[in-house]
Amino acid sequence: MSAIDLHARPSKGFEAKLAATALLLQSTADTLGPVTQASSLGAEDVVITHLINRLELDVPVFVLDTGMLHPQTLELLERTRAASRTAINVYRPVNESVIQFVGREGKDAMFRSVDLRKACCHIRKIEPLERALSGKKAWITGLRREQSNARADVPMIDSTDVATTGRVKINPLADWTWGDVWHYIQLNQVDYNPLHDDFFPSIGCAPCTRAISLGEDFRAGRWWWEDEAAKECGLHVRDEASNESRHIEIRNEEESV
Ligand code: ADX
Ligand code: SF4
Repeated sequence: MSAIDLHARPSKGFEAKLAATALLLQSTADTLGPVTQASSLGAEDVVITHLINRLELDVPVFVLDTGMLHPQTLELLERTRAASRTAINVYRPVNESVIQFVGREGKDAMFRSVDLRKACCHIRKIEPLERALSGKKAWITGLRREQSNARADVPMIDSTDVATTGRVKINPLADWTWGDVWHYIQLNQVDYNPLHDDFFPSIGCAPCTRAISLGEDFRAGRWWWEDEAAKECGLHVRDEASNESRHIEIRNEEESV
């Protein structure tokens, strides 16, 4: 049974939500630019990229390729590049940082402590994220309230960081259900990561993501060996590491693929 068979079920207000999402994306592109979409190539993100292409918005997409993504995710990245009207930019970690970290702490460091896991996320995601967001006034993400308790209050327009970064975060699917996401994918025949058919609702790096079983939480397969409170990589929470990283010198140029 595919993820579409299992999940595609629109909520009552689906049409209104879709219209509001399209309007928000359009007005973000028209008034807040330069703007970019952060895509992990997960189900929410492929829906947003599809809308950006459909509405012909001037919104490039970026993917953080941590060097640890599943082959299925990398294959979807290639297919998306080939099919997308808007640019799909890929950002990778600084090679020397990865080599030094893995040389010092080993390949499985993330399983030894939360600090080491966060250090790995910092090198592979947070620092490249800073480069991807440099010069942008707004970024679009696939965060939804339903995803976890920590995300229960996610607003459509998040201005929390404007004072420090000058950037607004737009979450156009904040009130969509998982059923809405898959309904859109089904209706529009959107290409998606086949790992979703293998019970991976939330997909990150290969070592840190597993399938979930019936009845488990949406994000139970992410950093499953850690306490609930720790389970964010820093992309969407502010901590010391991410604040510091705002001041990191931009070393690598964006690689456009
Ligand atoms: S995470 O913080 O736990 O990794 P999650 O996988 O739920 O985040 O994704 C939430 C949103 O963060 C995605 O919808 C996307 O906007 C952004 N995001 C997560 N991973 C990446 C990535 N590898 N590249 C670009 N954006 C990402
Ligand atoms: Fe490293 Fe895992 Fe974080 Fe990916 S999710 S950057 S492999 S610790």
